[in-house]
Amino acid sequence: MNEGERLTELAKRRGFYFPAADAYGGAAGFWTYGPQGAALKDNIEDAWRDRFVVQAGHQEISAPDVMPEPVFEASGHLDGFDDMIVECGECGATHRADHIVEDNTDIEEAESLPNEEVMEIIASNDIPCPSCQASLADEPVDNFNLMFETNIGPGSSSPGYLRPETAQGIFVEFPQLSEYARNQLPFGVAQIGKAYRNEISPRKSLVRVREFTQAELEHFVDPEEDEPPLSTVEDVTLPLYSGERQQADDGSVEQMTVGEAVETGVVTSDWVAYYLGIARDWYERIGIDMDRFRFRQHLPGELAHYASDCWDAEAEIDGDWIEITGFAYRGDYDLQKHAEYSGDDYTVFKQYDEPITVERPTVDPEMSYLGPEFGGDAQAVADALEQLAADDPDAFDGEEVSVDLDGESVTVPVDQTGFSVEEITENGEHITPHVVEPSFGVGRLIYTVLAHAYTEDEVDNETRTYLELPPEQAPTTVGVFPLMDRDGLGEYARQLAEGLRQAGHSVTYDDSGAIGRRYRRQDEIGTPYCLTVDYESLGDPEGDADPENLQTDTVTIRERDSTAQKRVSIDGLAETVERLVGGELTFDDL
Ligand code: GLY
Repeated sequence: MNEGERLTELAKRRGFYFPAADAYGGAAGFWTYGPQGAALKDNIEDAWRDRFVVQAGHQEISAPDVMPEPVFEASGHLDGFDDMIVECGECGATHRADHIVEDNTDIEEAESLPNEEVMEIIASNDIPCPSCQASLADEPVDNFNLMFETNIGPGSSSPGYLRPETAQGIFVEFPQLSEYARNQLPFGVAQIGKAYRNEISPRKSLVRVREFTQAELEHFVDPEEDEPPLSTVEDVTLPLYSGERQQADDGSVEQMTVGEAVETGVVTSDWVAYYLGIARDWYERIGIDMDRFRFRQHLPGELAHYASDCWDAEAEIDGDWIEITGFAYRGDYDLQKHAEYSGDDYTVFKQYDEPITVERPTVDPEMSYLGPEFGGDAQAVADALEQLAADDPDAFDGEEVSVDLDGESVTVPVDQTGFSVEEITENGEHITPHVVEPSFGVGRLIYTVLAHAYTEDEVDNETRTYLELPPEQAPTTVGVFPLMDRDGLGEYARQLAEGLRQAGHSVTYDDSGAIGRRYRRQDEIGTPYCLTVDYESLGDPEGDADPENLQTDTVTIRERDSTAQKRVSIDGLAETVERLVGGELTFDDL
């Protein structure tokens, strides 16, 4: 079994995730998170919220999953959110054309190639249909839009789409959100929520799915003035795989600090570099193995329609690199588009430090001249003169000016235009903010964290499997076991578990089977600590005292990774566990 298969087996057996609606044959690309998976997902989302919302001083919103068609006309998703599809003429199966090229050749990013080239590569490499092995050589490679369409209300007059990215729910609300931020740049708006893509070929369990959770931050900045606090991350070392390195014969990842990456121009946007630094430390916090991690720049043909530069955080699993986050510089693309399509104001007013005086050429045409001269077109001529004054004031230097009226040039004497140059005072200007976007795929983070945490070792001459999850991320923090459920041990352990739950810990109580088996069950879900209540806990090591008169004081605590055990007092135990989980206390300190 490879890493992915091993993980999928463990995930189902232990309740992390499994294919949804299996009783009805399921539908590819949809997964249900079980109790452990849902708890892990919550923990990862909480850690993200902590770093990218709370600590960063941003705001979080929750927008609808379904939005009307005009939103996606404006965003460009209706026209441009496509993958390459090839259909087998023999069996009718559809495949992602760039993926079958990558699977059958040395080409790594076939998505960046034009459709015709992908078609030629399929033909020249004689790549067969993965389902029936028939030749795909003559099959066209087409575009397939990934959005799920629906109807809003009865009938089909109001089409809507499941959002393909949570980001649009933020962009479209910018005028309102900007008011909440008192129209002061920079400000960030985050959202954790579902997104949907009708993938041609869902695969690799949580990696390519049709419904998934995104954690996205849209940071709105003034491109002229706002700068990120780079000094806070300048010494963070990034494993960078730039576009240049990817295209070089011997290209490899280079390690450089955020400061060096900015100085040498390897990462052109300071904002993107800043977020790479912040995110790198956050990935480590949630348990991603930094020896199996890199930041890869998008190649030009690979960039999304809205992005001018993009770096992906990628994690290695089974020798494949999986995108877990995209860091895109989206410029003013989205806000400009929504302004254009909706007619609303997607700008902020930027106040100057000092008011400035500007010259504004203007006209005040003599309508008693234009009326008789141009009849019903007089107003159109006046508007054209106004526009000409703004665009080319020098045109008014002569005796006459010419303007275009429905493709015909008409002439007006300058002394009938009322041309003048006014001096006006301006206090500021309207600007369209630029957007920097770190966009995290939560399911892929979960998949990576689990794959990187998966560990096997030898305990008591047996192979043991455990998940080396950071205690903060582990779905269950403490397993509580009575040595056996008799002589008051079970009652004592149940009370201990209840007390820990009341103190906010995630606790599993387990009294079934041999104690070794119970430890293994917790190891497999990554529970960092187990507490065992034994006779000594009751002050009765021999187990022959009257249970009514027992003294209670200590339990054993076992550390998952080392399997070491110590005795700890039950006094202040909830706080001890909290300090262990928070890293303020180590197991050795106990
Ligand atoms: N918002 C970026 C993405 O969904 O890929």
